[in-house]
Amino acid sequence: MELELRINGVIKSLDVTPGESLMKVLRREGYVSVKHGCETGECGACTVLVDGMPRPSCVMLAAQAGGCTLMTAERLGSAQHLHPLQEAFVETGAIQCGFCTPGMLLSAYALLSQHPHPSEEEVRDALSGNLCRCTGYVKPVQAVMCAAAVLRGEPTPPVSASSTDEGVARGRELRVVGKSEHNVDAIKLATGKPIFVEDIERRDMLHGCLLTSPHAHARIRTIDVSQARALPGVHAVLTYQDVERVPHNTAGQAWSDASPQDQYCLNDTVRFVGDRVAAVAAETPEIAEQALGLIQVEYDILPIVLDPRRAIEPDAPRLHADADGIYNASRNVAAHIQAEVGDVDRGFAESDLVVEGEYSVQQVQQVPIENHIVITYWDEDERLVVHSSTEAPQHVRRIIAPLIGLPPRRIRVVKPHGGGSFGMKQDVVLEDICALLTIATNRPVRLALSRAEEFSSGRSGHALIVRLKTGFKRDGTIVANSMLLLANTGAYGMHALSMLRNAGLQTLPLYACPNMRFVAQAIYTNRPPAGAFRGYSAAPGFFALESQVDEVAKRLGIDALELRRKNWLQAGHEHVLARALAAVEEGSKDEAGQVIESCGLPQCLQIVEEKLAWQEKRGQSSAGRFRRGVGVALAMHGSVGSGVEMSEASIKLNDDGSFALLVGAADGDTLLAQIAAEVLGVSMADIILPTSDTDHMPFDTGGHATPYVSGNAVKRAAEQVRQRVIAVASRMLNVPSGTLTIEDGIVTAPAGQSVTLAQVASHSWYVENQPQIMATASWKSKGQPPSFAAQGVEVEVDTETGEVRILKAISAVDAGCIINPLITEGQVEGGAAHGLGYALCEEMVYDQQAMLLTTNLSDYRIYSASDIPLLKTYLVETNEPGGPFGAKGITDVAFDGMAPAVANAVADALGVRLWQLPLTPERVLHAIHAHAAKK
Ligand code: FES
Repeated sequence: MELELRINGVIKSLDVTPGESLMKVLRREGYVSVKHGCETGECGACTVLVDGMPRPSCVMLAAQAGGCTLMTAERLGSAQHLHPLQEAFVETGAIQCGFCTPGMLLSAYALLSQHPHPSEEEVRDALSGNLCRCTGYVKPVQAVMCAAAVLRGEPTPPVSASSTDEGVARGRELRVVGKSEHNVDAIKLATGKPIFVEDIERRDMLHGCLLTSPHAHARIRTIDVSQARALPGVHAVLTYQDVERVPHNTAGQAWSDASPQDQYCLNDTVRFVGDRVAAVAAETPEIAEQALGLIQVEYDILPIVLDPRRAIEPDAPRLHADADGIYNASRNVAAHIQAEVGDVDRGFAESDLVVEGEYSVQQVQQVPIENHIVITYWDEDERLVVHSSTEAPQHVRRIIAPLIGLPPRRIRVVKPHGGGSFGMKQDVVLEDICALLTIATNRPVRLALSRAEEFSSGRSGHALIVRLKTGFKRDGTIVANSMLLLANTGAYGMHALSMLRNAGLQTLPLYACPNMRFVAQAIYTNRPPAGAFRGYSAAPGFFALESQVDEVAKRLGIDALELRRKNWLQAGHEHVLARALAAVEEGSKDEAGQVIESCGLPQCLQIVEEKLAWQEKRGQSSAGRFRRGVGVALAMHGSVGSGVEMSEASIKLNDDGSFALLVGAADGDTLLAQIAAEVLGVSMADIILPTSDTDHMPFDTGGHATPYVSGNAVKRAAEQVRQRVIAVASRMLNVPSGTLTIEDGIVTAPAGQSVTLAQVASHSWYVENQPQIMATASWKSKGQPPSFAAQGVEVEVDTETGEVRILKAISAVDAGCIINPLITEGQVEGGAAHGLGYALCEEMVYDQQAMLLTTNLSDYRIYSASDIPLLKTYLVETNEPGGPFGAKGITDVAFDGMAPAVANAVADALGVRLWQLPLTPERVLHAIHAHAAKK
């Protein structure tokens, strides 16, 4: 039907189908700032203004917008003329991945058009329909308040990271490192430029679709695709009968791949609801969907097992036959690891108090606002190009090559800007099947997950049961501890071993203890498979550890902070569990003897103690309906998988004196650019960051703590380039190279003679006939220098409803050298906000047949701007000798400690401890009633 729409001031006559959503029509017309994050109007990424009101365009029919005035973010302002809102979002650091940004800008625009003087609460309310997983909403709210002031014509103070005023002590003379430079992609993101995978268009592109299993465990008896193949517009239907049977694992992990080879592209056995059964490529998404409905499948239903404790019993249903890398298939054990330090049994025997507890942590989803999406096509050289939302393009190429029957040299993986990952996009999820559809059809194919498919396809965080036992002396000294961990890896074992390893490695050594035992197993069940998740399963360990330390402090009558101070890891201590784990593993020998060289825990805890008013508020809960309490937790998080994660960076000097920085890292590009600019003596504008592409980028394992791993590679490469620049300039100026400096792109001799970098480049080529000034350097982590954090919260618990309200949440983080305070602070805020949701509401819930019930953003709730309390962040600067300029990676540590801090605050408020996350109102009420019944 013909429809007239007024879009951004232009009247357009469009041909739309009756059921077409407004989002689809706008995107088709090129308004790509309208993002697809869900199909249910819950995430707000597709927000447009309809007659001035923000509306989710995914649930609005285009036909309903006829005669309305529509506005998208493209209308707000251009890169040359940013709207004050866009400018404020850029300057305040409100843009991280930026997938939510256009929608958020429009909601803010609508608010300010109606209310030029909004309160912060009104701003939060206005943004509450726009979910953001990265920022914790602190900076977006700040940005809207700033823009409101600008629009009112009021002077606004210069933006800086608030934490730097109090927390950061810097004593270095650096020009770019340490400055709050804005995100290098912020302007593109604020103006809605087409930089995500979903924005890519190819001529003749087909649409892929997946048929998935309705059963948690079944064998396909028959599958008939004849009707689907016969449907006009269908170009390929693939089942397990059409693809090579290549055992593999989809975990995007560094060599050597430690995960079991327990997966196939398509298989005759399905092991979870949502497992792949068939794939279709068709002219339109509607035809592809229709074709799925024509595929006839008969299943032989197999018994299921959902609880890992049941799954390890000898008579439990078995998920896998023996396969390479499975620890014990007959007991459903995907992976097993154990390590011991000292004499643990003797340590317990010598303890005055031994406490033991079992802590349960739920399965959670990462919920990046951008879903998985892949586009594949053949290029003119018959090479297969894969545009993917992955964060590990090199792994994608390595993993899919044998699955699609092409050598890696015939595969090119391009990673455009990513809309969030939090570990989820570390794995291959769609790339193999999309590539197979292109191979089958010789056409470009687009394959994207819906929000519901995103939830049910797996790669979530692991559900864990942690059994923790600790022995103390009467004075609070920890003598021995042991952590037994049972992880539910679901149907497949992606990251099973490395996740287990990390869960113990990052947590137990937080307290120096001579006797430590760590035993962990990852168990197969018929749930969607778990994968890499923010913190890599350190958070469950900290929930157990920090809950138990708090409990013991109470029993010993020692202040909970003093007990921590008495035992905590300090600079100069050895990371003993790392040594023990290295002894039982191949390939990690570098960790032996690792010593902690920087630790800001004392400063972090001091800050939290003061800001939380610990001394006045701890233990002061009253007996009324609403009870308040405060809680604290510590966390540490090693920067990388040591001895495994590596990065490489290339830098080359261009003829205009700018530099191209090629690094395959997933995020943190701004920080890497700052490191390069610092070493090379140029401004940020002189550093160009091309899109990550396996054809051009040096190798990078991706998905690691970028400032630490990639930052070191960038710094090394920059230093080599700098040396070559200086060498050429010294010949040009006829002065010794050691006397030259580079500043603002000019190489200067002590007497004042100078040459520009552009002149150096030209001289090198045209006069000296030298190869282009460039260098490639790599860096592999030899240790795991951890960042540290202390986190504190104040809660109010409604004893009649069980609701826990966060009144205040404080994070003090030791980030090593803080390369960019604004961005670092934003990352901490995002991690802390995520941690609060993890503590209180996020949980994947299943029915008895393992059907996931939380498949949308109403049932699986992540916090909105109006849910988030006052988040306060303090950055403590230390100097990590192994890090670039002393930096560490910090994103996960701010997530790790929030749940135990909340649990400890609830215990302080109620005098009742909860052992299971999340602390939902039902669980809190149950704990209150159970406690009362015991009295
Ligand atoms: Fe909001 Fe990433 S910046 S979702």
